[in-house]
Amino acid sequence: MKKELIKIIKKAGKILKKGYYSNKDVTFKAKKDLVTKYDVAVENYLKEKFTKKFKEFNIIAEESDNTNIEFNNSIIIDPIDGTTNFVNGVPHTAISVGVYKDKKPYLAIVYNPILDELYEAKIGKGAYLNGKQLKVSDETELQKALLATGFPYTSGSNEDDLNDVVKKIKDILPLCQDLRRLGSASIDLCLVARGTFEGYYEMNLKPWDVSAGVLILSEAGGKITNINGEEYNLFEDKYIVATNGKIHDELIKNLNLL
Ligand code: IPD
Ligand code: CA
Ligand code: CA
Ligand code: CA
Repeated sequence: MKKELIKIIKKAGKILKKGYYSNKDVTFKAKKDLVTKYDVAVENYLKEKFTKKFKEFNIIAEESDNTNIEFNNSIIIDPIDGTTNFVNGVPHTAISVGVYKDKKPYLAIVYNPILDELYEAKIGKGAYLNGKQLKVSDETELQKALLATGFPYTSGSNEDDLNDVVKKIKDILPLCQDLRRLGSASIDLCLVARGTFEGYYEMNLKPWDVSAGVLILSEAGGKITNINGEEYNLFEDKYIVATNGKIHDELIKNLNLL
């Protein structure tokens, strides 16, 4: 299944790449939340191919109506993760596809067609970037850790969320090497898998933002939990905390300062 998935996703990557260098029809789902005709075009292409090839799976996708779709055996798609980057010409933007069997991650692909970087993982078989196996960083000290985070779209309208973002930056920034905001959750998780970042946290993500990245990171030796250090639930948890495993407890402790 993985080979076929990759073939389809690479073709969809051509649509994304063409859009990246063209004029985009941008519309607003909310004040900060953009969507373009290319988000829809990539999603439609993937859905059409996956429905034909992988009949036993339901499809959950960002730009579709997902009401009453069973998650148990599903392919969860983010057609363009990092739409704001895509619109503004920042090359951190990717197609993210996670395959779930019996509610558990089975296969994952994150493909950035601008940089031609394809991250992939299969449960129990390791994680790879363009064929090269990935391993998380060995850093054990939070003070030396390069972290990434993201700002939820709700920070433009929900004061509690905005205050929470600011509070956590205030708590964490003095305690780590530095903090990045690259603008694509799926790529952030892959960069922890790659050892570029030691850790990453963010609030209010959707299942398609992280459905693939969580498997890629865990297969590279990383750890993913909610903010209490418990198993992360794609559909229910407000916060994701994802690290190389070695700074996890210290990061969790400092994200929970009152
Ligand atoms: C967004 C990106 C971003 C994250 C947002 C996501 P989208 O996804 O992953 O990094 O901070 O919370 O919604 O809308 O570009 O697919
Ligand atoms: Ca979006
Ligand atoms: Ca996304
Ligand atoms: Ca998206």
